[in-house]
Amino acid sequence: MRSIAAIGLAGLLLLGASATAGTSKPSEPNIVTDTCSQCHGNNGISSIPWFPSLAAQTKTYLETQLKDFRNHTRADHYAKAYMWNMAGTLPDKVIKEIAEYYKAQQPPKGSTTENPTEVAAGEAIFKNGVASENVPACGACHGANAEGNTMFPRLAGQHREYLVAQLKAFRDKARDNAIMYSNVQHMTDAQMHAVAAYLASL
Ligand code: HEC
Ligand code: HEC
Repeated sequence: MRSIAAIGLAGLLLLGASATAGTSKPSEPNIVTDTCSQCHGNNGISSIPWFPSLAAQTKTYLETQLKDFRNHTRADHYAKAYMWNMAGTLPDKVIKEIAEYYKAQQPPKGSTTENPTEVAAGEAIFKNGVASENVPACGACHGANAEGNTMFPRLAGQHREYLVAQLKAFRDKARDNAIMYSNVQHMTDAQMHAVAAYLASL
């Protein structure tokens, strides 16, 4: 009798352990394995400069972007060319699963090949803004370490080329976002490259 009870208890403990593991780390949705990872990399770490890493990105931001691609409100060149089709038929439920999966992945490791002078100039812009050009401190919204929060995306460890392309897209209104347009409308290309170099290095 006693040994049967012990086996029963061990079984319950095992069940408990696997249930906890399941909730702490969402499993990879099939569509990520089959499709998204071809461009965004395994575990959301992309190795191609124009394809953003998605690992550790905030859940709210990922969901917003996928819906913006789906309804064509994010309409910069690469969004149209690559993501309109990808997100075109994704149901809300799948978007939520994808966002939960990527949010739970380990963040990208920062690039070690950025130019130190640019990185220092970019750090100053990120932390203090550029008062003479009405550029606000980026960290006020994106977090002190660019880790992101809800609607404000994580920028740390993102590819430099991708970041520069997005800053230009906001400035040119190809990517229509009132907040980011007003933040970057007076930034020069050199300032965009510097802040992107800093963010890529994190
Ligand atoms: C053929 C390549 C390709 C595939 C496959 C692909 N993407 Fe993308 N994705 C891109 C590119 C390129 C961009 C950048 C768009 C831009 O510059 O505006 C992007 C951007 C994104 C973004 C916005 C990231 C950010 O930081 O704003 C999300 C989210 C995203 N993709 C999710 C997905 C998901 C989910 C899938 C699978 C259903 C997927 N992608 C499949 C190429 C791809
Ligand atoms: C007032 C808040 C605020 C400030 C300050 C701010 N941002 Fe943003 N930023 C946002 C929001 C909100 C978004 C998301 C836009 C969207 O949903 O398309 C964003 C998006 C971005 C993106 C796109 C990320 C991606 O993955 O595609 C980049 C790059 C960016 N910001 C860089 C900066 C830089 C550099 C600065 C400083 C010069 C800055 N931001 C200052 C609010 C802010």
